[in-house]
Amino acid sequence: MSVADLPKVELHLHHEGAAPPAFIKQLAHEKNVDLSKIFDANGGYAFRDFVHFLSTYEDATSVLTGPEEFARLTTAILEESAKNGVVYTESFISPDFCGGGDVGAWREYLAAIQEAANAAEAKHGITLRGVVTAVRHFGADKSKTTAHCAAETAGDFVTGFGMGGDEGQFTQGTFSYAFDQAKEAGLQLTTHAGEFGGPESVWDAIKDLNVERIGHGVRSLEDPALVKELVARQITLEVCPGSNVVLGLFPDFASHPIQKLRDAGVKVTVSTDDPPFFHTTMRREYEELSRAFGWDASDFAELNQTALDAAFCDADTKAKVAKRLE
Ligand code: HPA
Ligand code: ZN
Repeated sequence: MSVADLPKVELHLHHEGAAPPAFIKQLAHEKNVDLSKIFDANGGYAFRDFVHFLSTYEDATSVLTGPEEFARLTTAILEESAKNGVVYTESFISPDFCGGGDVGAWREYLAAIQEAANAAEAKHGITLRGVVTAVRHFGADKSKTTAHCAAETAGDFVTGFGMGGDEGQFTQGTFSYAFDQAKEAGLQLTTHAGEFGGPESVWDAIKDLNVERIGHGVRSLEDPALVKELVARQITLEVCPGSNVVLGLFPDFASHPIQKLRDAGVKVTVSTDDPPFFHTTMRREYEELSRAFGWDASDFAELNQTALDAAFCDADTKAKVAKRLE
């Protein structure tokens, strides 16, 4: 059996970022919006660098409007994830893109997403949990509204709070009010850091936001004291190697620091981030990691256990997912 066929747990997937280009193209066509600038000659998403990626992402997201479209997107994402052997996934969803920060509208989007997720679970045996996500470059005020929406809807489905967006803008501490608000509502916390932001952004995430997971965090390796701290605090990294390679952090999988982080005792997991943008899938991530580092089924079993331990869901859900990993 190829490692690509193994069951998988994924912790870091952006809901809108998982939209197939054909899906977005169709919506743009229906709405008479010209999005030709975001597609390349092969029909894939086109971007030059991280900041351009974020604007392409937001252009694509602009045609996704209404709970029904998010339900259709959820169905498409979970079908694709299930095809890749994913048995549990968490996706970043944002009230900023679902109802513009209005709690009532957000509830309607969530209900539609959850209904689609329940149907996908019955059909494909894949469980989805939502991590409500602030967008860093939208600033601190918006993050408070986002955290308010998250706190109001915390429960079985919304189990986490996080932050993505442009790491070049604002320190982590700018958002401590939002993260505190989410924590008080019982949500578990993660934030993007140490992707473009360097080790300081990971230090700040730990100290100022009290997160238990870090999105990416791969540049932590530049600071040995930080690596020690991650091990001591048992912080789990949501590593997205294929995303890092496409965005130019490392030239290829073989140069990616995931092996060194793992050797240092840091808890690492593997995710796709925004699969169609980065021309990747969970099957491909496993194949590439196996090729680059010789990882076999036992390595991936350890990785999946680490991911399940760090998953933002309750013990019953973890037990159910653990059975799918057997
Ligand atoms: N990184 C940071 N922010 C994002 C991403 C990402 O990959 N996708 C959507 N927002
Ligand atoms: Zn991400």
